[in-house]
Amino acid sequence: MIDLKYPEGATPIDPDEAEGLLLTHITTQAELNRWEQDNIVEALAWIDKTKPTNILNEQFIKQLHKRMFDNVWKWAGQFRRSDKNIGVSWHQVSTSLKNMCDDVPVWIQTQDESPEEMAVRFHHRLVWIHPFPNGNGRHARLMADIFLENVLHGHRSLGANGICQVQASLEADTSMRFKRRTMETTFPFWSLQNRREHRTDFC
Ligand SMILES: Nc1ncnc2c1ncn2[C@@H]1O[C@H](COP(=O)(O)OP(=O)(O)O)[C@@H](O)[C@H]1O
Ligand SMILES: [Mg+2]
Repeated sequence: MIDLKYPEGATPIDPDEAEGLLLTHITTQAELNRWEQDNIVEALAWIDKTKPTNILNEQFIKQLHKRMFDNVWKWAGQFRRSDKNIGVSWHQVSTSLKNMCDDVPVWIQTQDESPEEMAVRFHHRLVWIHPFPNGNGRHARLMADIFLENVLHGHRSLGANGICQVQASLEADTSMRFKRRTMETTFPFWSLQNRREHRTDFC
């Protein structure tokens, strides 16, 4: 059995969920990271091809997670069935996502915030819900990028660290309260273009 070592902030995987590992030859965290990353690159190609815009619904949220992790995890695209040290109670995942998806069109309509600010808010809401057993950080970052580029038609990245910086700042805020100051100081984003060029998402 693989001995998983977690970076700070990572969600430990339940033993039950760890049994969902499809690639039984994997023995180290580094191998797991690499297989997951190859899977994510396939998901990026799919996004490039399909340019999805109808993303504010449970079906797409699950579909993207499945596309990112289905070569590696049996439960890719399925919501978690246990509580974690972060996130809503697993019973509330579906309702919380629905609330989030219902709120977003209101933000867009009222135009109180720039596209980048809305993308940061969106990312924070999603990662706070923590819908899946694992992969929530990478999934929420990619969702935020698709939201920014395909829905809000925001500008692409102006630098290399982008959403990773946003996330690092939010994580430093242990109360998980959204801080306007945070997003104002943490642009630009890690765009789809950057992801393609660097073929990496470890941050
Ligand atoms: N205290 C926190 N504040 C904000 N975000 C957090 C916090 N703890 C964890 N996270 C988010 O959860 C992610 C880890 O969840 P996980 O499901 O393991 O995702 P991944 O496998 O993609 O890293 C982190 O990358 C971060 O996005
Ligand atoms: Mg993880």
